[in-house]
Amino acid sequence: MEASSNLFVIIIMLLFLVGSVQSRPLPDQTLDDQGHDTTHVFSLLNYGAVGDGVTDDTQAFKEAWNQVCNSSLPSPVLHVPSGKTFLLHPLDLEGPCRSANVTVQIMGNMVAPSDPSEWQCDYLEGSYNCPAFLTFQHMNNLYITGSEGITIDGQGHNWWDLSCHQTTLIIRQSSNVHLRNLNIMDGPNMHIFIQASSWIYASNITISAPKSSPNTDGIHIQYSQNVFVSDSIIGTGDDCISIGDATSFINISRISCGPGHGISIGSLGRGGSTAAVENVHVSDVEFSGTSNGVRIKTWQGGKGYARNIMFEKIQFYDVVYPIIIDQHYCDRHFKDSCQNSDEGSAVKVSNVTYNQVYGTSDRPTAIKFDCSETVPCTDIVVNNINIPSTRRGRKTSSYCQNVYGSAHGLVIPRVPCLQYA
Ligand SMILES: *[C@@H]1O[C@H](CO)[C@@H](O)[C@H](O)[C@H]1NC(C)=O
Ligand SMILES: *[C@@H]1O[C@H](CO)[C@@H](O)[C@H](O)[C@H]1NC(C)=O
Ligand SMILES: *[C@@H]1O[C@H](CO)[C@@H](O)[C@H](O)[C@H]1NC(C)=O
Ligand SMILES: *[C@@H]1O[C@H](CO)[C@@H](O)[C@H](O)[C@H]1NC(C)=O
Ligand SMILES: *[C@@H]1O[C@H](CO)[C@@H](O)[C@H](O)[C@H]1NC(C)=O
Repeated sequence: MEASSNLFVIIIMLLFLVGSVQSRPLPDQTLDDQGHDTTHVFSLLNYGAVGDGVTDDTQAFKEAWNQVCNSSLPSPVLHVPSGKTFLLHPLDLEGPCRSANVTVQIMGNMVAPSDPSEWQCDYLEGSYNCPAFLTFQHMNNLYITGSEGITIDGQGHNWWDLSCHQTTLIIRQSSNVHLRNLNIMDGPNMHIFIQASSWIYASNITISAPKSSPNTDGIHIQYSQNVFVSDSIIGTGDDCISIGDATSFINISRISCGPGHGISIGSLGRGGSTAAVENVHVSDVEFSGTSNGVRIKTWQGGKGYARNIMFEKIQFYDVVYPIIIDQHYCDRHFKDSCQNSDEGSAVKVSNVTYNQVYGTSDRPTAIKFDCSETVPCTDIVVNNINIPSTRRGRKTSSYCQNVYGSAHGLVIPRVPCLQYA
């Protein structure tokens, strides 16, 4: 009697185990050349996603992420399948994950809700504060890859008339993150925000939003080190790439920028804050029809430094203000805090080189170095610059205020405040 009831319990338990194993979606296997199982692919479709662009697939994504992030397999892959469009609400994708190497393979479209009321925002002091569409946090060794014809669509058009703070993709407190082959469009605000992270590699990224869309920066980098952005095409309504405070070893190369506000370092030192930006290398960038080219902007009254910066192999096509250092930066929304004359402190700008910079300027002032009286710009070097006017028969000129440094090779327009070698 006792034995048979034990047996009965064991059979029930076995049935339950078999059942629970079967109901758990199993990942598809991927084998390498030698037939070893190298990756496990967790498809959104195994977690109930529909992918018709109308059904909310957020829950399926969360469950797939939990499985991937919790997987002890060597290289788990979250797979967003092709031929479909997944409507998703803001997703908080948290690490650290159990596996040393996690991939999100995006082969289908991902789209945010077009109705702002579905973004779960707080309304504070006249502005909406919203979670990002995709937030990846506390990740180490994350690969996010896209594929041909596939978009991540932030559906910003209903937001652009409102004041809002939300980002399409945030990488925060992470390291060794690789973003590849992504096509991100129409973010409500910034498109990619790299915050408090290191060893971030972004390549072959296309970012697009209308020229008229406000604050839609392409990539913003802040509190981060060792960030590499290359081989990308960015055209939005704000900076293509902006480099904010506490950044070092930033390498930007082979970028096409426009429309937009160009590539900028800053604004730094707002509200008397201390900036620390160094070792920024920007090379092989083409600017087309942007309002600025390469710009460093700092607020009056700031502290700290922006130094060891190199802009090289830059090409401008019809750029309004190609080269700018502006230590009297003032955002029109904060006019009150910029009325003081140039007294007190400023973010120190030094060792900035412009090397092989060519192309056309839409305004007469092709080079503007407007530095602080109390903390002048030093070691500003121009080497082989030729920026004539877009308009036939017009000449370009430069503007210099409190700048020290040197000029080498051919430099058009002439920068009289620099020492000619
Ligand atoms: C991760 O796996 C552990 C044990 O395998 C389990 O207890 C836990 O619930 C899982 N977490 C998630 C988020 O699935
Ligand atoms: C991690 O995954 C990426 C892409 O999914 C792959 O290229 C890389 O080799 C993997 N690294 C390791 C150590 O498995
Ligand atoms: C760049 O990414 C696109 C998808 O967005 C892809 O079709 C293309 O092959 C990629 N190019 C390279 C050189 O990897
Ligand atoms: C910047 O990165 C490019 C490739 O992404 C590389 O060729 C170049 O050497 C790097 N430059 C610096 C200064 O690290
Ligand atoms: C000036 O900046 C460059 C990087 O652009 C760096 O290699 C060089 O060491 C810096 N010079 C000094 C004196 O710090």
